[in-house]
Amino acid sequence: MVRYERDGHVAIITYHRPDKLNVIDRQMRTELNAAFAAFRDDEDAWVAIVTGAGRAFCAGADIRSAGDPAGEFPGTFWEKPTVNSFESGWEIYKPVIAAVNGYCLGYGLTLVSWCDFVIASEQAVFGYPEVRIGIPTIVGAIRLPQRIGWQYAMELLLTGEQITAERAKEIGLVGWIVPHSSLLSAARGLAERLLAAAPLAARATKEVARRAPDMSAVDAIRFGETMRLVANATQDAAEGRAAALERRPPVWRGR
Ligand code: COA
Repeated sequence: MVRYERDGHVAIITYHRPDKLNVIDRQMRTELNAAFAAFRDDEDAWVAIVTGAGRAFCAGADIRSAGDPAGEFPGTFWEKPTVNSFESGWEIYKPVIAAVNGYCLGYGLTLVSWCDFVIASEQAVFGYPEVRIGIPTIVGAIRLPQRIGWQYAMELLLTGEQITAERAKEIGLVGWIVPHSSLLSAARGLAERLLAAAPLAARATKEVARRAPDMSAVDAIRFGETMRLVANATQDAAEGRAAALERRPPVWRGR
């Protein structure tokens, strides 16, 4: 149901349940979490692209599976999707690009609201339909206002309406709209640009950006300076300095 592939330093994670518009049931959630854990732990994977097979990116939770109306998930609080899942923001500090190929609803949009970059096919459709089936959106409600601003977030979350890629770009949810047929090549192009960066320096930068808003300014600076010391001690930092002095392109190793 979820595919994890790696091409060079780029991991491609694909929601692969096309006949059901890639909706998430318990098994799919397990596989999705495993795919992101694989990406997080794969030393040679520096950037990820997430996309969907078929005509949807992901149409949200599987409302036809038994149990929890938001999908059939394990029972205890600690196992709930809001606490322990990729959509809730696992600590992945490598860059992640969403290549949104079609319907991107509910949990699909929650995942996208976590990604660093959102490239949409002109056929993409975004929305949080949950309120229209009588359930709240939790992680989306936590994340979306920080991402796109209050009223646009509330418009999506509280009306449950679906919006086009164009509107999604207008409100800042999408960075780029591309023709449907060039979606993956556009995502690959962005991934290649990201590979110009030393992966550990990029990771340290993203981690500081992610964590800093939850800290006081002084704590954020202390944490950031500690990250700088760690990143400066890597082999790649030495390579970056040597390459600059020798006026040649650096060769990153992620070490
Ligand atoms: N849960 C379970 N199955 C779903 C689903 C969902 N959320 N969304 C789509 N599917 C299934 C359909 O049952 C159908 O399967 P079937 O062919 O075996 O009947 C298949 O995916 C295709 O969906 P369909 O509704 O026929 O496609 P469409 O193009 O007419 O409509 C949507 C597309 C996305 C507008 C529509 O499927 C929809 O509104 N889905 C529900 C989205 C939702 O509420 N998600 C959030 C849940 S929290």
